Amino acid sequence: MQLITHPTAEAAALDVAHRLCAAITAAPEMRLGLATGGTMQPVYGALAGLDPDMSGVTTFNLDEYVGVSRDHPGSYHRYMQDMLFHRLTRPPTAHLPQGDAPDPGAEAARYEALLARGVDLQLLGLGANGHIGFNEPGSTGDSRTRVVTLTPATRAANAAAFGGETPAQAISMGVASILSARAILLLATGVRKAEAVGRLLQDPIGPACPATYLRAHPEVTVVLDAAAAQEVP
Ligand code: F6R
Repeated sequence: MQLITHPTAEAAALDVAHRLCAAITAAPEMRLGLATGGTMQPVYGALAGLDPDMSGVTTFNLDEYVGVSRDHPGSYHRYMQDMLFHRLTRPPTAHLPQGDAPDPGAEAARYEALLARGVDLQLLGLGANGHIGFNEPGSTGDSRTRVVTLTPATRAANAAAFGGETPAQAISMGVASILSARAILLLATGVRKAEAVGRLLQDPIGPACPATYLRAHPEVTVVLDAAAAQEVP
């Protein structure tokens, strides 16, 4: 695992945007796993400014809320359109789980099948409780894309986009689905993530802190700002 710390969140996000741009330029037909959330907004802003040709790239987002249509302002479909895809001259072919699919379990299975070949690079954020994707504490290392129940803390952290009432469930890539990526790039910024970063690096590998499973992957880069790095040993 490679650990890189920048003085500010802005510098950390810019570094990640440049790494994504370089990967896309080196492999214009790559399969790229994408994340959402507040941490990624400056990354996508910077990437849109660099405006790489993503027309040959296929993207796969980590997760989507159950029962939420692609046009809903809180959906991750909408987030990706607004933050990145609509700002690119040559956007990618994008896949996200369909939140309002009539059978969410079947939708999760369909999405997992799409991921069968794995992605070349997976971008990840980090939950304050150690989640990756929406693999909340308790998620096992062999988990695949499935319907998950969000913890009260995760629902509270994401409430703004839903006017206070975050959906209770999401479809999320599993821990094993994430680990099947050839390379993983995780970004965590802000003091709110410091404890989770410390646990990622030091806790026993297991479901109590799903991010610890990343230590079992051979090609992980963790990019931090100084605030998120406070509990790095
Ligand atoms: C988002 C995702 C989540 C977030 C995490 C951090 O697709 O899968 O794991 O990366 O919840 O969210 P922010 O960046 O909003 O703190």
